[in-house]
Amino acid sequence: MPELEGKRVLITAGPTQEPIDPVRYIGNRSTGKMGIAIAEAAAQQGALVTLVCGPSSVESSDSIKRINVKTAQEMFDAVMEIESEKDVLILSAAVADYRPKIVADTKIKKKDNGLMIELESTPDILATLGTRKKAGQVLVGFALETDNELENAIDKLNRKNCDLLVLNSLQNEGAGFGHDTNRVSILDRHNNISNFELKSKAEVAKDILQAITDYK
Ligand code: CTP
Repeated sequence: MPELEGKRVLITAGPTQEPIDPVRYIGNRSTGKMGIAIAEAAAQQGALVTLVCGPSSVESSDSIKRINVKTAQEMFDAVMEIESEKDVLILSAAVADYRPKIVADTKIKKKDNGLMIELESTPDILATLGTRKKAGQVLVGFALETDNELENAIDKLNRKNCDLLVLNSLQNEGAGFGHDTNRVSILDRHNNISNFELKSKAEVAKDILQAITDYK
């Protein structure tokens, strides 16, 4: 893909929130900063950007079409409705892997002997896109690993049929959730691996977009 100008790019970002009852949810520490930085950088390069974003206080420019969602299911539905018309799909959202099987209609009252909440799997947006990828579409996944990083990341790239995978390590100081900096490695389907230094998320976003335009 020579350049992003005029390309239709879909980016997922932020966490998802899976309701337990009307006042509680299961969530995670993602802020959406990395995904929104990618959206901004892609828009600056002339891409037509749609951002499907979980709950995040980070704002995005008017040049980006933003669709706000809360749950993994809402993110899945929003992405599936528009994915077939996109050239590049970048899945940076920290989607909850599980959700409560039953959502209580009223606030769950405190009892003395603990509480069991049964969880079920959420739909896997990245894996679903991997099964229906069209010729020419570039699919980019993210991975956050705490152990056997490279091995797990290579496995994820293949399992979810990604073209590129951005590996975030939680072992790096100043990288990951909530920080303004990040340190990533970018893997591709042909077993190429690029390791980057700790940089601002705006700079990491440019490296990711460069890897996409360089990808053959
Ligand atoms: N992802 C997604 N939909 C989900 C879960 C994850 O689209 N329901 C995407 C994320 O946006 C990210 C990648 O998949 O691009 C991260 O996958 P992860 O959740 O780490 O992978 P798993 O297959 O759940 O593997 P594991 O939990 O074993 O690391």
